[in-house]
Amino acid sequence: MKKPVDIYTQMNHIHKMLKKGILVTAQQGGQVNPMTISWGNIGIEWNRLIFTTYIRTGRYTHKLIEETGEFTVNIPMTENVGKILGFCGSKSGRDVDKIKELGLTLEEGRQVKVPGIKELPLTLECKVIYQQLQDPDAMPAQFREEFYPQNVASDYHSANQDYHTMFFGEIVDCFLIE
Ligand SMILES: Cc1cc2nc3c(=O)[nH]c(=O)nc-3n(C[C@H](O)[C@H](O)[C@H](O)COP(=O)(O)O)c2cc1C
Repeated sequence: MKKPVDIYTQMNHIHKMLKKGILVTAQQGGQVNPMTISWGNIGIEWNRLIFTTYIRTGRYTHKLIEETGEFTVNIPMTENVGKILGFCGSKSGRDVDKIKELGLTLEEGRQVKVPGIKELPLTLECKVIYQQLQDPDAMPAQFREEFYPQNVASDYHSANQDYHTMFFGEIVDCFLIE
């Protein structure tokens, strides 16, 4: 069951959980692929409420979002999701079916084709309205050195050669899976 949620009542919770890790999930051709993130923003542009996720270009999730233009954000309401966040933050959907391996429960989407995940029940449904690759020359040199030292290839989860694409997802629905 999906309980409608006023997202403004959840902002503190979302930010608190984001710091520890939440999921961004994409889907293509029947494959549902969650990935752990701890960078993100909720804000307003063009009078739309937007979740922005920052994804390195080499991630499988990057390819899925770029090709489908949709994702869900899956936020835990409890603290006991360390195993899920660890697995989804270190394995690639190119190699494993993370949903199957973890036995996660999917909940059909409302406004997007991508499902929510019952174990991380607070769900934002997002449609990409803008995307842009971050420009290395426009960031402090210190960040280039810290986050992009170019010594781990892009097929490793600790990849550091690829820069981040900002995907701006308009939040078209928000609910709690019960
Ligand atoms: C706590 C945590 C936070 C992460 N945050 C991000 C992030 O914001 N952006 C990103 O590109 N990768 C991030 N990662 C790495 C991806 O989750 C990881 O590389 C994942 O295996 C990619 O999955 P995929 O290949 O199926 O897309 C994070 C990993 C962890 C453990």
